[in-house]
Amino acid sequence: MTFASVDSKSAPMTGQDVQLSVVIPTYNERGNVAELIRRLDATLKGISWEAVYVDDNSPDGTADAVKAIARTDPRVRCLRRVGRRGLAGACIEGILSSAAPYVAVMDADLQHDETALPAMLAKLQSGEYDLVGGTRYVEGGDAGSFSATRSKISRLATKITQKVLGTELSDPMSGFFMMRRETFDEMAPRLSPVGFKILLDIATASEGLRIGEQPYSFGTRFDGESKFNLQIGVEFLGLVLSKLTNGLVDPRFIFFAIVGATGVAINLAVLNLAMGLYPASSFEWAKTVATGVAMLWNFLLNNSFTYRDRRLKGLGLIRGFIGFCIFGAIGAVTDIGLASQLYVHHETWLVAGLAGSIVGVLWNYAMSSMFIWRTR
Ligand code: GDD
Ligand code: MN
Repeated sequence: MTFASVDSKSAPMTGQDVQLSVVIPTYNERGNVAELIRRLDATLKGISWEAVYVDDNSPDGTADAVKAIARTDPRVRCLRRVGRRGLAGACIEGILSSAAPYVAVMDADLQHDETALPAMLAKLQSGEYDLVGGTRYVEGGDAGSFSATRSKISRLATKITQKVLGTELSDPMSGFFMMRRETFDEMAPRLSPVGFKILLDIATASEGLRIGEQPYSFGTRFDGESKFNLQIGVEFLGLVLSKLTNGLVDPRFIFFAIVGATGVAINLAVLNLAMGLYPASSFEWAKTVATGVAMLWNFLLNNSFTYRDRRLKGLGLIRGFIGFCIFGAIGAVTDIGLASQLYVHHETWLVAGLAGSIVGVLWNYAMSSMFIWRTR
């Protein structure tokens, strides 16, 4: 097939540089694909653009819908990720997979107003900014279709961020922005693939970033439903914590710590139950059962939440659990050893105990991240 036979109205031809890559993360957005492409085509006249969909193997066949268009429209591409989930990670990989000097990220569901894109591009091309964030919260923008509860959550999260992280963005929660490629490429290794809040992560990843804003009106979802849930809220807190500690605490760690705390509660509850049910049996026996149940609980919860983007299945799940117990045992020995050492060196039992536990948790977390739920 020759190039001339490709039906490509304003498609980038050989020799015509693509100016703008629009990265669109998707999970179950099949019904929105054709409409967004149609609107991008209508809005981006005179701009040489491409759309990069990053789909996490949506069960509704979003990737197929994109590829059906991609076959005849060379401006459209689909990066299909398997065995992984996560909005921020999808955006990062989509941006890294593209090459235009300017790159935008927007939702697939038409809530982000695509007609703001040319103005965002013009702002970047003026050379004044490295990043232009879409905002609902300044003159000309509005959060229109957000439900009352979501609106409250979003505004609260915005306040927290502005207070603790001191970002100048009026809408750091927005998932709609455009930036210079080289700015992104430079910071990419420092970004977190966890969570929804990629703009916040980017805006605080480099000092001296020149940030502009573009007001837009947040629309209603065209088709399908939102993927926002409680876990995403906790992930956000993890990101704030990570930023506050200058990257020392990984955003993922907050889940590990919460899971660990619930494990302690389970441990005590099972101990209480076992002793109540079989009062005649030994304490060691009851405690062994309680610890075993808590280990399994911790393991399964970490598999579903902390490392949900690297979830183990089948045989890997069993292998993982064995490893988790072995590392856990080493962690416990380290914890006990350290605490005892401190105690004999005249620390109070509380300080000695706490220090041991903290080192134990950090050890377990490091081993889990490196060996059990490692990136494959
Ligand atoms: N690849 C991938 N993987 N995409 C995802 C995933 C995922 O795990 N989860 C969500 N997405 C995609 C959705 O398909 C959609 O295109 C986009 O990310 C936003 O998800 P929604 O489910 O529509 O989120 P929302 O409308 O509740 O929240 C959005 O708007 C807020 C306000 O601007 C998000 O953009 C938030 O980041 C933003 O704060
Ligand atoms: Mn949405």
